[in-house]
Amino acid sequence: MQLEDKVAIVTGGNSGIGRAIALRLAKAGANIVIDYIAHPDATEAEEVEIAALGRQSIGVSADVSKPADLQRLVDAAVARFGRLDIMINNAGVETRTSILDTSEADYDKVLDINLKSAFFGTQVAAKQMIAQGGGGRIINITSVHEDWPMPGNTAYCLSKGGMRMLTRTAGVELAPHGIRVVGLGPGAVATAINTSTMNDPALLTRLNAAIPLGRMAEPNEIADVVVFLASDAASYLTATTIFADGGIMQNSVGL
Ligand code: BGC
Repeated sequence: MQLEDKVAIVTGGNSGIGRAIALRLAKAGANIVIDYIAHPDATEAEEVEIAALGRQSIGVSADVSKPADLQRLVDAAVARFGRLDIMINNAGVETRTSILDTSEADYDKVLDINLKSAFFGTQVAAKQMIAQGGGGRIINITSVHEDWPMPGNTAYCLSKGGMRMLTRTAGVELAPHGIRVVGLGPGAVATAINTSTMNDPALLTRLNAAIPLGRMAEPNEIADVVVFLASDAASYLTATTIFADGGIMQNSVGL
């Protein structure tokens, strides 16, 4: 198995892409700390699914915008499994508000949950990895919008652009410790964050037409890339972002 007995934390791990990541990492042999903020029942159901895969997991309710809560996730990993090998900074939100009507509260929420969490998640995970020795992997789930404007979602783009530089800079800083820091930038994925698009047939048709592969990704198509990035097959990857976007960023109207 690619990740036999590795220990991973997945933030935002009981829904959407995070849920798929937790299950795929477990299938590859890892034990999991599932961070969640709501729906404990979903976390419990996921723990049962992970147990059925022959792996262990614990759900920990933590607010990733608070460094002390992130530290609690690391402490839980160490208390239960003895170490931390893989940190997945996945939790994310968006408001889809224009720069003209994004409130200070919207701005703070998006930046805190998406970027501050990834910064301090990287910090607390790296400290544990350095203390235990042997390196580690930190994977930041960003977006095509770390580099590609999404008008009407400026705060989100800003947070993802910040994660891009976090990945690059922390990747360089932490390389001497054997810690790889990699970003994974999905395009449009069929999860709750895209409900408004999926419920609007005209918008969905336009979105699918803009994607060279012609459709949104399933969460598992992102999670499979995470398994690769967390494994030794990706041993020479750090301080960069891999995009799994069906080609959307490269699309051209052919003019
Ligand atoms: C955003 C979605 C958007 C997708 C493709 C994602 O990062 O969360 O709102 O549809 O990128 O543009």
